Amino acid sequence: MTHLSTWKVVTLDSPPWRPMLTLGHPPPRGRHSSSSTRYVEVQVLLRDKVALVTGATRGIGRAIAELYLDHGATVIITGRDARVEAVAVELGERAHGRVCNGLDEEGVDAVVTETVANHGSVDILVNNAGIARDAMLHRMTLEDFREVIDINLQGTWLWTRSVVRHMRERGGGNIVNISSISAKAGNLGQSNYAASKAGVIALTQTTAREGARHHIRANAICPGLIRTSMSSVIPPPAWQRLLGDIPMGRPGEPNEVAQVALFLASDMSSYLTGTVIDVSGGRHM
Ligand SMILES: NC(=O)c1ccc[n+]([C@@H]2O[C@H](COP(=O)([O-])OP(=O)(O)OC[C@H]3O[C@@H](n4cnc5c(N)ncnc54)[C@H](OP(=O)(O)O)[C@@H]3O)[C@@H](O)[C@H]2O)c1
Repeated sequence: MTHLSTWKVVTLDSPPWRPMLTLGHPPPRGRHSSSSTRYVEVQVLLRDKVALVTGATRGIGRAIAELYLDHGATVIITGRDARVEAVAVELGERAHGRVCNGLDEEGVDAVVTETVANHGSVDILVNNAGIARDAMLHRMTLEDFREVIDINLQGTWLWTRSVVRHMRERGGGNIVNISSISAKAGNLGQSNYAASKAGVIALTQTTAREGARHHIRANAICPGLIRTSMSSVIPPPAWQRLLGDIPMGRPGEPNEVAQVALFLASDMSSYLTGTVIDVSGGRHM
């Protein structure tokens, strides 16, 4: 396992969780820092890897795709409509967008087959695509229950099955599943969502057990309250109540989940499988 290093330009006024990253160029002679930039040598963790990130048109999935690209991977992103292609263009030449609804069994298999044909393998799968349809249990419709289970759990299962077939043949791979803190503690109005995400944890652990002898690792992340379009619909009083439950007193940013997804996808976590990591500012610790 080799970690290649490269140079990173850190813009000092950027938040610590999203430094500017420029790969490949050492600093000009004698310019190790200036008033606004600093050059540091960093390890590129995913060089030459091929990653498939589902639901990466925005939010956490997009942040993961961006960070994997920064770390040298080729990244295939999926979304439900043609906007995904425009997002891939924005992300750069190593990003490729594919329209694929996670409910479409044949579509999922086709994206995996096409990725292997075009790029040689799928080294990393991130099951990120997900939705919420919140309502208190006594008001929730069967349709909303089914839709959430179908996309969050069945979709994750379909991608995992397809990729595991390929990873077993090629002798290894790495799967990162995005679950939720709701899976562990439940949440008001989220009987469908919490159940789907608990299923994702059980699926992760089973994939890890079945995959270990084939050098396939599978781990899950449980984000807490992360600032994305999914959480933007939370009404202000509920948002304040949620903040009160978070020891760190603030929501997380998509990139703070992406950093953990990078760790799990890289050799830095080579002895981790079947684990579930909370990224929640201490909520429900
Ligand atoms: N935000 C939070 O506080 C939070 C907390 C815990 C867990 N999570 C989990 O983190 C993941 C990402 O959430 P987010 O907050 O980033 O949500 P988001 O901003 O709403 O983004 C969701 C992404 O999933 C895609 N997607 C949804 N349904 C899909 C389907 N059937 N097929 C393909 N793609 C689909 C969307 O793409 P298109 O709409 O373009 O198709 C979009 O790219 C989800 O699994 C979510 O459950 C989020």
